Amino acid sequence: MGSILQAPSVKQSVIVVGSGLAGLSAASELVARNVPVVILERQAKPGGNSIKASSGINGVPTRFQPPGLDSLQHFLDDTINSVSSSVMSTMTETRRSLISTLTSSSASAINWLVDEKGVDLSRVAQLGGHSHARTHRGAGQTPPGASIITTLLSQLKANPLVELQINTTVTKVLTSQGEVIGVESQQGGNVQTLHGPVVFATGGFAGDSTGALTRYRPDLHGYPSTNEALPGSQDLLSEIGAQLLDMDQVQVHPTGFIDPKDPSKTTKFLAAEALRGEGGILLRRGKRFVDELQTRKVVTEAITAQPPSTTEGTKQWDIVLLLDEKTYQSTKSHVDFYLWKGLMQKKTISELDHSDVVLETLEQYSDIVQGKETDALGRKSFGNWALREPKPDTVVYVGNVTPVVHYTMGGVLFTPDAEVLDADGKAIDGLWVAGEITGGIHGANRLGGSSLLECVVFGRIAGRNAARYVETTSDKR
Ligand SMILES: Cc1cc2nc3c(=O)[nH]c(=O)nc-3n(C[C@H](O)[C@H](O)[C@H](O)COP(=O)(O)OP(=O)(O)OC[C@H]3O[C@@H](n4cnc5c(N)ncnc54)[C@H](O)[C@@H]3O)c2cc1C
Ligand SMILES: *[C@@H]1O[C@H](CO)[C@@H](O)[C@H](O)[C@H]1NC(C)=O
Repeated sequence: MGSILQAPSVKQSVIVVGSGLAGLSAASELVARNVPVVILERQAKPGGNSIKASSGINGVPTRFQPPGLDSLQHFLDDTINSVSSSVMSTMTETRRSLISTLTSSSASAINWLVDEKGVDLSRVAQLGGHSHARTHRGAGQTPPGASIITTLLSQLKANPLVELQINTTVTKVLTSQGEVIGVESQQGGNVQTLHGPVVFATGGFAGDSTGALTRYRPDLHGYPSTNEALPGSQDLLSEIGAQLLDMDQVQVHPTGFIDPKDPSKTTKFLAAEALRGEGGILLRRGKRFVDELQTRKVVTEAITAQPPSTTEGTKQWDIVLLLDEKTYQSTKSHVDFYLWKGLMQKKTISELDHSDVVLETLEQYSDIVQGKETDALGRKSFGNWALREPKPDTVVYVGNVTPVVHYTMGGVLFTPDAEVLDADGKAIDGLWVAGEITGGIHGANRLGGSSLLECVVFGRIAGRNAARYVETTSDKR
């Protein structure tokens, strides 16, 4: 379908770079407006890091939430608190307008996925840093990233307006007189040039441990990551004048699984945040040490405040994630997978390291959950935890976890219209961005579930605006 020299009646194709949720959301909006799309993806399999998302997507207010509790204002407040006041004090208006677009478009993002695309998002959980349950996932076994991506992808693949090129790495964004006019890409040894407006949705750089990550955050050198070990693509846009923002703001997720079979492996499976949200607790040498529902940043800092256990190769800590039977039942779809992978084990308390300390910790914790005591660490919501009288032979579910580099908050400075700003603050024509490549929404900390949300919200905006651009420029030509 290319895009060079088409009959006048055929609309020009829009080039979408990246086949994660941001790219697929943009592509879906484009084809809904009858605009042809070429999706370029460097990997052999489409879906990016989006397909791995395991906790869910935020939306407020939705019909799946418990009625009458949450509000847009709460979601906005939680997001701004998470950004942190020091980050919020710079570029305040820009950040406010992006966050306002993100939160106020969240209900329609969920409705779009559920009602128009047919994705099941009927379960909600409360994740760390959130004041209410608002992170949506399906009721079945399939994790939310996989179910959203496979649904959008199969609808796009069935559409004759869509061409998906895999194994195709974009190496240059082409401009003419300040306007983006296409991209250069490589497939195997072949270089290809495509012309058309561009939606750039290439994700973050959390897996780029030897490149961008070490450049912006040398202290994180040696940390394992949940992302694929591939370079970030932000530089392709800074080369054409895009500004970057918050590049040193990197989210370290507190809980990546240490696989007992391969403890120093650099790419790690995430221990889904829902495990803590639904009732799981964290132990260091048998004792709780943090409110497990605090933000990722707070939980991570509580872990890394003590020296790591491994410094050779990967930098890791020894923390145990523990679930009682009821919490296991409520997170069964996750945990059965982890048990099968050997990342978690079903054990009695007496089989654990520091078992006497663990027993004492669980006795005290059950008093806290029953309201006999308040938690000195500040946890107020206990999910499905139901263990009341722990005994040495009580069955629990445990896994070893350590902090992992998970998400890069920084990226390309953009607007609520998904436009990219140059050094003069002027929008670059012919270019839109969405997803983790952007900066300005999450500041010091991204809330769980808000990344899939930004992909859908700004991906759709990018798609709509690129479609309008094609319609108006083809009128001119
Ligand atoms: C294990 C895991 C679990 C997560 N769970 C959640 C969750 O529950 N909820 C949530 O909100 N967020 C979650 N996140 C974060 C979220 O998944 C990502 O931030 C989000 O999916 C990013 O989407 P994206 O479309 O911007 O990028 P991606 O999904 O990473 O897609 C970008 C694509 O662009 C391609 N690409 C990059 N550069 C080029 C180039 N030069 N040429 C061609 N192609 C290129 C990449 O190969 C990739 O396929 C999770 C992340 C991980 C790793
Ligand atoms: C893509 O690359 C993979 C891995 O190098 C290869 O196995 C596959 O055949 C390629 N597919 C296409 C369509 O080029």
